[in-house]
Amino acid sequence: MRQNSNIPKERGLDNTLNILKEGYLFIPNRMNLFNSHIFKTRIMGQKAICITGKEASKIFYNPDLFQRKGVAPKRIQKTLFGVNAIQGKDGLAHIKRKSLFMNILSQKEEEKIGRLVKEELIKSIDKWEHMGEVVLFREISEIICYVVCNWVGICITREEAKTRANDFLRMIYSFASVGPKYEKGKKARKSTERWIENIVEDVRNNKIKVGENSPLYKITFYKDTDNKLLDSKMVAIEVINTIRPIVAVSTYVVFAALALHTNPHCKEKLIKNEDNYYEIFVQEVRRFYPFTPFVVAKVKQNFLWNRYEFKKGDLVILDVYGINHDPQIWNEPEKFDPERFKNKEQDLFDFIPQGGGNPAITHRCPGEGVTIKITEVVLDFLLNNIDYHVKEQDLSYPLDKIPTLPRSGFIMSNIKRKK
Ligand code: HEM
Repeated sequence: MRQNSNIPKERGLDNTLNILKEGYLFIPNRMNLFNSHIFKTRIMGQKAICITGKEASKIFYNPDLFQRKGVAPKRIQKTLFGVNAIQGKDGLAHIKRKSLFMNILSQKEEEKIGRLVKEELIKSIDKWEHMGEVVLFREISEIICYVVCNWVGICITREEAKTRANDFLRMIYSFASVGPKYEKGKKARKSTERWIENIVEDVRNNKIKVGENSPLYKITFYKDTDNKLLDSKMVAIEVINTIRPIVAVSTYVVFAALALHTNPHCKEKLIKNEDNYYEIFVQEVRRFYPFTPFVVAKVKQNFLWNRYEFKKGDLVILDVYGINHDPQIWNEPEKFDPERFKNKEQDLFDFIPQGGGNPAITHRCPGEGVTIKITEVVLDFLLNNIDYHVKEQDLSYPLDKIPTLPRSGFIMSNIKRKK
């Protein structure tokens, strides 16, 4: 058979609108239809190759085969990532910048953030007891924002954390939108960049003192591959690349609360914490619930995979959501079952809710540890520190909306401190 002739191809001049319509299921729907691990389509006016499965993940995270420069559309850079930030770097420039993030997000710092979030949660109980109803998504995003800004080295009050959290959430929840919602995301990024840029300049001019171990200090005085400091705007962008995704953990926290609510049989196991149950429960939350739909890269050099010749410059989309629900990897993938992680060997390519490969070398997320830590801490709090009621509410999360979230944000009422 001739190369490339056996690859399913989606009809239509451009299928960008179908992504918006089908969201997380855009790639899985077509993989099922074509019974394939690969198909060709057209997205944003160009040819794109969608791939899925563990083997696809292995090639996608081979830095010799793929690059990120020039991949993220400007509309995503102007809301979610920031222009010219780490996500679009390759080779040495990427590895050097990545080492900065790996250093900032050490295990010790993950533990520290977890402790600080727990302390703030405990302090919130009195207020929550008097609130009647608490929307978990809102409250936890403000708590995380307060904790993380101060941990980074930017002092803010609990009151200010409310508006700042809102801006970080706008950057996260607007990038795939159009119209006013997208414009709000862009505005939120602009004003947050300006705010942090001014702080960075004050740190450089010695008007503000920050600890040498703080992420703000480390990023402000980090030297790039040219041995020069980053300009203050780029520092602000990478500081936002540290704070914003930690605020985004609020989404997994809400999914974890939902998982606890819909799987009450897990409560006893969590309380006993046998077999590291907190950890396996959170891993299952990251597998089962949708967050990252897919990741995108460009072919760096021609290569052959699955009888298909990938050509330099081709756009390739890896199906993260589909791989989390791939029946060839997961037994009964549509069942929420933390125990599946009990004896699972670590694999860098088959469980990739936050990207794959070795995070020091590939674009895999450096924040998995802190994501797991914060989610575990909040679960522990919900189980052991308070009693609460979950009234009838719309807990559905639309799969055609990227990123998604339970519609109600998880409303808790009648909150009481556990004696
Ligand atoms: C909230 C849950 C999170 C999800 C779903 C998530 C997901 C991801 C994904 C899919 C990638 C890109 C992988 C790729 O391009 O191949 C990524 C990269 C990244 N994430 Fe996360 N992440 C989360 C939390 C965090 C946290 C807590 C941090 C902490 C600072 C973080 C910082 C980053 C950074 C800096 C990158 C860029 C890495 C690079 O380009 O090398 N993320 N994340």
